[in-house]
Amino acid sequence: MAQETYSPGLEGVIATITEISYLDVDHGQILVRGYDLIELARHLSYVPVAYLVIHGHLPNDEELAAFDQRLREDAVVPQEVYQLFQLMPKTTAVMDAQRTAISFLASYEDPAMLRTPTPENDIAMGTRLLARMPVITANAYRVLHDQPVVEPDPSLGFSENFLYMITGQKPDETARRIFDLTLTCYIEHEMPNSTFAARVIASTLSDLYGAVTGATASLKGPLHGGANEAVAHMLLDILEQGGADVAERYILDRLARKERIMGFGHRVYMKKYDPRAALMKDFIPELAKRHPQGEELYRIYQIVEETMHREKGLFPNADYPVGLIYYLLGIPIDLDTPIFLVARTAGLVAHVAEQHAHNRLFRPRVRYEGPRDLHPTQVTVH
Ligand code: CMC
Repeated sequence: MAQETYSPGLEGVIATITEISYLDVDHGQILVRGYDLIELARHLSYVPVAYLVIHGHLPNDEELAAFDQRLREDAVVPQEVYQLFQLMPKTTAVMDAQRTAISFLASYEDPAMLRTPTPENDIAMGTRLLARMPVITANAYRVLHDQPVVEPDPSLGFSENFLYMITGQKPDETARRIFDLTLTCYIEHEMPNSTFAARVIASTLSDLYGAVTGATASLKGPLHGGANEAVAHMLLDILEQGGADVAERYILDRLARKERIMGFGHRVYMKKYDPRAALMKDFIPELAKRHPQGEELYRIYQIVEETMHREKGLFPNADYPVGLIYYLLGIPIDLDTPIFLVARTAGLVAHVAEQHAHNRLFRPRVRYEGPRDLHPTQVTVH
């Protein structure tokens, strides 16, 4: 047997070869298909970047128009999806409803396509799923909260439509632009736990829907995507307990109790600033002005950031600004992580297609530390 190596949490392990993205921490860059993600987010909106992530090159005008039209036309979901949400207990987490809906939507695909895991089929089904993700996400929340379903409006672009279905109001340009920027920041990020989960599932030659369903379960966890919701709850908790004046003490107390502060730290960035967090932070003041508690929440945000840097040498990750931005945009906190998943769907589709293009089954080994030489005769049956 090859020499046994063990890296807890698979830290530093190269799990695959990819042409999709890379966290080039030394150069402070998130490379996506050869471009710097931050530059993409500054200059382009989510839809062309989604095309880039999925297809490997930036679209020309014709390709972009066709992709955009696909996303608008394929957005409508079967009415049974809403009935499915109706059947769920009202206490269901939006992310669980979303996960169930993704799994359910697989049944509406051609069984032959599901059985044939080619990159072409992954991209066709994945584009359809991406189109539907905002609809199932916003409306899962709506049905679970006894609000009327809002059908997608084909006259609206991807991000605008998504915000419209969430809030029931057509967003203004500032809200649309900043929300779209967060989606682009979330679109793809090399090999986080959820992407790894999707590739592990895809490597059995299972289908795209199964892989995205598994990735959804992974992303829900508070150490991963769930952190953005935890950030919003923490900032509001500090506000309630006295605001900016108590923010430093609040963090010091939690650190003294050895608690983790969500939205800080990252396995790959370690003690460097996540470039996405740096970009998104610049847009908070503009939104803060528009919200009655915005300025105070932004002060709290800054104090928490300074305290974490001074005490732990840790910087924010992307989930830190997003938790506040979504709150200031009037988005219900329960939707923060589900929105992350919607944005990440493009990246997941690309990874599943790449896995299927060059597949080898993931099957690691273990270091066994359990007992040996036990025999069933030692067990007494009563
Ligand atoms: N608050 C307080 N201490 C922390 C934090 C934090 N947010 N993050 C790391 N540490 C400490 C940790 O306690 C440990 O200290 P010690 O060595 O004294 O025990 C040390 O830093 C190393 O932590 P680790 O858990 O071994 O590091 P990891 O690489 O396994 O964890 C992480 C990475 C993201 C899980 C961790 O930083 C964390 O729990 N952060 C909070 C959750 C969070 O914001 N998650 C979002 C991640 S980025 C977006 C995404 O991909 O979803």
